[in-house]
Amino acid sequence: MDEAGLVPGITGLGIHVPERVLTNYDLERMVDTSDAWIMERTGIRERRLAAPDECTSDLAVKAARKALDAAGLPAAAVELIIVATATPDMLFPATACLVQDRLGARQAAAFDLEAGCSGFIYGLAVGAQFIRAGAYKNVLVIGADTLSKVTNWKDRTTCVLFGDGAGAAVLQPVEPPRGMLSVYLRADGSGADLLKLPAGGSRLPASAETVRGDLHYLAMNGREIFKFAVRAMGEAAVEALRRAGIRQEEVDCFIPHQANIRIIDALAKRLSLPPDKVVVNVDRYGNTSAASIPLALYEAVSAGKVKPGESLVLAVAFGAGLTWGALVLRY
Ligand SMILES: CC(C)(COP(=O)(O)OP(=O)(O)OC[C@H]1O[C@@H](n2cnc3c(N)ncnc32)[C@H](O)[C@@H]1OP(=O)(O)O)[C@@H](O)C(=O)NCCC(=O)NCCS
Repeated sequence: MDEAGLVPGITGLGIHVPERVLTNYDLERMVDTSDAWIMERTGIRERRLAAPDECTSDLAVKAARKALDAAGLPAAAVELIIVATATPDMLFPATACLVQDRLGARQAAAFDLEAGCSGFIYGLAVGAQFIRAGAYKNVLVIGADTLSKVTNWKDRTTCVLFGDGAGAAVLQPVEPPRGMLSVYLRADGSGADLLKLPAGGSRLPASAETVRGDLHYLAMNGREIFKFAVRAMGEAAVEALRRAGIRQEEVDCFIPHQANIRIIDALAKRLSLPPDKVVVNVDRYGNTSAASIPLALYEAVSAGKVKPGESLVLAVAFGAGLTWGALVLRY
């Protein structure tokens, strides 16, 4: 295969969100908060919650089937499955293996990738390398999370922010000018304490004490994360554009991680991107972690904001780790 045939691009997208909607008014009955506070401070109106018997792989499989259909790719032809998630079904085996089995992707390798809310960007970056190297032609990258399962529903500073969902993309070699033009990934573990799930791993195995201490719920320093988010995503966006040789004004569609409308607005302003180029669905889904970018990209494509073969897309995310990253692609 010649050089041009090894450019990775997205050839199919699919999403799935759980049926149950939790509105800000529902939250008013659960904790000391208000629709007005949540709307003003976050821009979130409602979010989707997985059912008690619904887990990350359930959402992932449904999103993946739709992405495979959209790409016209049979599951048996998938060569690699990457599931980006911070809420796997179990600590092990990898959720990607459960997804591989249920899809019937008999030829596929499968592994999970943990980069918090930056997981989908990391996943696309990793999957793309296998295509560039000529190792695989059919890669499935899924971002799926059920943060509701690790949310402390008594903690108003976190429980209003998150929602559940999944998004999947089929990566295949595409013909230029389509394809991924650049990727930029970063991490800074010195900020690990700012957003974490303290117990249940090897540091603090589950015990009666960890349960009593609410240590199996996510814990976050919101103010510090906010500052980090605007700074890091701004840096990542600029660097990904520079590597792609694209000017800011050439971007047709900007897909920021959907965590908080104030973060999105601050970032768009910093990058001089007008509101009509910025995709926002945080109002309907909240922060869906690794599912955030594919949910927003899918909706942008469905709405005609991203035109196949034409639109230049800039996607940028940040998350626990700390991690952050951005990529530029011509969809
Ligand atoms: C969490 C976040 C919305 C809080 O907004 P903020 O403007 O920074 O608010 P503060 O934390 O300064 O809190 C302001 C006040 O509102 C209160 N408050 C917090 N959550 C509240 C809620 N749900 N309802 C009502 N009041 C709330 C606080 O207790 C605080 O009260 P105090 O001044 O009496 O102490 C915001 O910091 C944020 O979005 N951070 C980023 C989080 C994120 O994106 N995480 C995911 C990373 S992938």
